[in-house]
Amino acid sequence: MGSNSALLSKIATNGGHGENLAYFDGWKAYDRNPFHPTQNPEGVIQMGLAENQLSLDLIEEWIRKNPKASICTAEGVEEFKNVANFQDYYGFPDFRKAIANFMSKARGGRVTFDPDRVVMAGGATGANELLMFCLADPGDAFLVPSPYYPAFYRDLGWRTGVKIVPVDCDSSNNFQVTRAALEAAYEKARNNNINIKGLIITNPSNPLGTTLDRDTLTSLVKFINDKNIHLVCDEIYSGTVFSSPTFTCVSEVMQDVKNFNRDLIHIVYSLSKDMGVPGLRVGIVYSYNDAVVNCGRKMSSFGLVSSQTQHLLSAMLLDDVFVSNFLKTSSKRLARRHEVFTTGLKEVGINCLKSNAGLYCWMDLRKLLKGQTFEAEMVLWRVIINEVKLNVSPGSSFRCVEPGWFRVCFANMDEHTVEVALKRIRAFVGVQGNKKSNNADQVFVKSPNKKRSQNDLRLSFPATKRYEEVMSPHIMSPHSPMPHSPLLRAN
Ligand SMILES: Cc1ncc(COP(=O)(O)O)c(C=O)c1O
Repeated sequence: MGSNSALLSKIATNGGHGENLAYFDGWKAYDRNPFHPTQNPEGVIQMGLAENQLSLDLIEEWIRKNPKASICTAEGVEEFKNVANFQDYYGFPDFRKAIANFMSKARGGRVTFDPDRVVMAGGATGANELLMFCLADPGDAFLVPSPYYPAFYRDLGWRTGVKIVPVDCDSSNNFQVTRAALEAAYEKARNNNINIKGLIITNPSNPLGTTLDRDTLTSLVKFINDKNIHLVCDEIYSGTVFSSPTFTCVSEVMQDVKNFNRDLIHIVYSLSKDMGVPGLRVGIVYSYNDAVVNCGRKMSSFGLVSSQTQHLLSAMLLDDVFVSNFLKTSSKRLARRHEVFTTGLKEVGINCLKSNAGLYCWMDLRKLLKGQTFEAEMVLWRVIINEVKLNVSPGSSFRCVEPGWFRVCFANMDEHTVEVALKRIRAFVGVQGNKKSNNADQVFVKSPNKKRSQNDLRLSFPATKRYEEVMSPHIMSPHSPMPHSPLLRAN
């Protein structure tokens, strides 16, 4: 491998993919031993994947009812030749219209989008990279409020050479980004001779599951305008909002703010989350800047959406009744799943940041840490992966500045799997606080995979200790499961 990599380019081997992050490690643990309700019930449950599987049945139903929209059916094959032969980086006009229509519907019809500003890309991944390519040179940087989507390292920077400058946000104000934090990050970067070309925000946020309020968005638009830098709004979760407040899109705010440069504003969107179809690789850039639309179109040759997919989606997303029903039902189902999951966590004393969007929650496990360090976070994370067998993602991989937060996805599985996951969590963390001893720091840990006698094992700590303080890393290695700990005793 070593000598082989010497044959590759520096850029290909510079580690810019970011695959050494714990976020991807967790996926590997899942791949080695994936949970299956009957074939592998003891396996790792994948809770690290922000995937929406809750409403795919509605899409399947529409496809069955509309066989003409697919070119690989007896009813639709007549269009095969025209569709399969199409290769134009503008995309089908109906496809761009359909996407603009869907984006508007996902925002409650409060804004409309011009199909001629829709530029195709391979998912939001391709869209984000396309924008970086158009807006920044290698070595330039974008401000990114933290915690942020781990794959931004790859998407924004690997091939383009664009750097990320984090804007630190923390739980003191529910991780909201402030003008002061933006100014501080901007000034610090400038003092280090880093050329800031823009700010990229994910709204609704991944990993927080929160939406930016109108005032905050307005202040961001003013900030980038004052600095004459770009604002990229990754709105991939805009239709994945399931409770109040409603989502405010940057385009709505643009209607309010006076005297600013519209050329600085760009939206990234994709159907991967809102429709749950990441495999179709439908991403778009919507830019208010004509030059970016023009340049982006040329770039989109590298990530065109297949014309077969464009053809199918044109028909589906221009069906207003379907779209309205889909968005409403999806939101209801997500709300229910979120409720079931967060209530289950609350029952064992685990809180999540209050959220109204996304396919995950931002779980607060700070009180289970030995100390407020990222080493302690990793120790806890390894226990969750290896012993509890849940692939959750540690906050450090989102570059969270506070240790102890974890992102847990809840929409990529069926109800049964959610129940199994909650059962494992319940078994892992019991009641906080021992009524008898009044020891508020007692934590109960059970191994979910052992027989009855071992199942009731309990780990108890002195009030000042957290659990991994009493477990050396080697005790917690995958080769040495928890019941071997001398500190465990039968309950
Ligand atoms: C914030 C954010 N941007 C972009 C992406 C990439 O999405 P896509 O599958 O459309 O490339 C994701 C996927 O998780 C995401 O969460």
